Amino acid sequence: MRMRGRWTIAVVAAVTVAAVLVLASGVGLQAGAARKLEIFSWWTAGGEADGLNAMFEIYKKRYPGVEIINATVAGGAGTNAKAVLKTRMQGGDPPDSFQVHGGEELTATWVVTGFMESLAALYKSEGWAGVYPQDLVNIVSYKGAPYSVPVNVHRGNVLWYNKKVFDENTLKAPATWEEFFKAADALKAKGIAPLALGDKNKWEAAHLFEDILLATLGAAGYRGLWTGKTSWTGDGVKKALDTYARILTYVNADHAAGTWDSAAQMLIDRKAAMTIMGDWAAGYFTSKGWKANADYGFAPAPGTGGSFVVVTDTFGLPKKAPHRTEALNWLKVAGSKEGQEAFNPLKGSICARTDCDLNKFDAYLKSSAADFKRNALVPSEVHGSAAPEGFATVFNDIVNLFVTNKNAAAAQTALAKACKDNKMCM
Ligand code: GAL
Repeated sequence: MRMRGRWTIAVVAAVTVAAVLVLASGVGLQAGAARKLEIFSWWTAGGEADGLNAMFEIYKKRYPGVEIINATVAGGAGTNAKAVLKTRMQGGDPPDSFQVHGGEELTATWVVTGFMESLAALYKSEGWAGVYPQDLVNIVSYKGAPYSVPVNVHRGNVLWYNKKVFDENTLKAPATWEEFFKAADALKAKGIAPLALGDKNKWEAAHLFEDILLATLGAAGYRGLWTGKTSWTGDGVKKALDTYARILTYVNADHAAGTWDSAAQMLIDRKAAMTIMGDWAAGYFTSKGWKANADYGFAPAPGTGGSFVVVTDTFGLPKKAPHRTEALNWLKVAGSKEGQEAFNPLKGSICARTDCDLNKFDAYLKSSAADFKRNALVPSEVHGSAAPEGFATVFNDIVNLFVTNKNAAAAQTALAKACKDNKMCM
């Protein structure tokens, strides 16, 4: 009896040790993988980092015991992150999931080239068919299958202003560039810098130009830029460049040293009255305790009322994701109502889903949601949707050169060439 008891204890102990070893080696959980989740993004600034953390908190509650690796590479619009991602993906070392804009940035760069898994089964199991606007599903799809999960809709064409500075000077938000110049002159006369810009990473100046193109060409003409229908050498683009040159006489002298968020901070510090940026700036203001309609005012970028430049952040599943199960669970959180209602009010964006509770959103985001429904929706080029990455990179360079030399003819020739080189124009 005694002998048998000892024998039983020995066997149980051996089995337990073996089980622990199996678990520790990861076998039985998932091939070669401990419980980790690596999420790659460029969300490091106020607002965007808070939104990401809110989704991590939900993930941790739903899937306890998973170590989350927050792999961020600073630099707005992914200036630095996209290069790091490319090296990792091409070197066979992908993160479990990464931030990517819907449209060309996802499809041309990663899907057509065979790096991503189809998410058709996930969309089905999560019942997402009816909850996303079809337009959004279309831009994350290739050959009928979705390849990423949109978490939000940002608006690219927004003018932000310091409400108190505007009130003190009895100014109202300029609806056109002509109105902008009048307001800017009045502010300048009082010694207030009219427009904050921080274009250290190039894309910020290109972002402003994108909004000027939309104002000058209208939604249809603007769309034509990405399909070859609107000529880069025509009068419309010339007029947009001339307007841009004039606007630049109202921006802060040290713009080349700043970033999008330092430009937003200039409004808070009363160092400038206005800035033009996507509504991640609203997320930044929120993170600094600044409130819509009290501390800051907002309006469509001059001349772009009635149009909505769509920027959508999405997450996908690389084929070689080291922790595939954890990555799929991440996508479930990112696509859920709970995830999007926690993320977007902090991020300064509206849900990609259509069923979020608007009461959770502030006055600015409520107005954005209303505009998204009724405005002409146009894609952003600077934020990855409208054109292939090759064009986007050259576009940033051309615009930045223009900011320095104001040579409209040279810019037009270079833009037309880039359009041809990237097979967007004949
Ligand atoms: C955009 C992105 C936004 C925001 C912004 C600044 O490209 O879509 O989510 O992060 O860059 O970093």
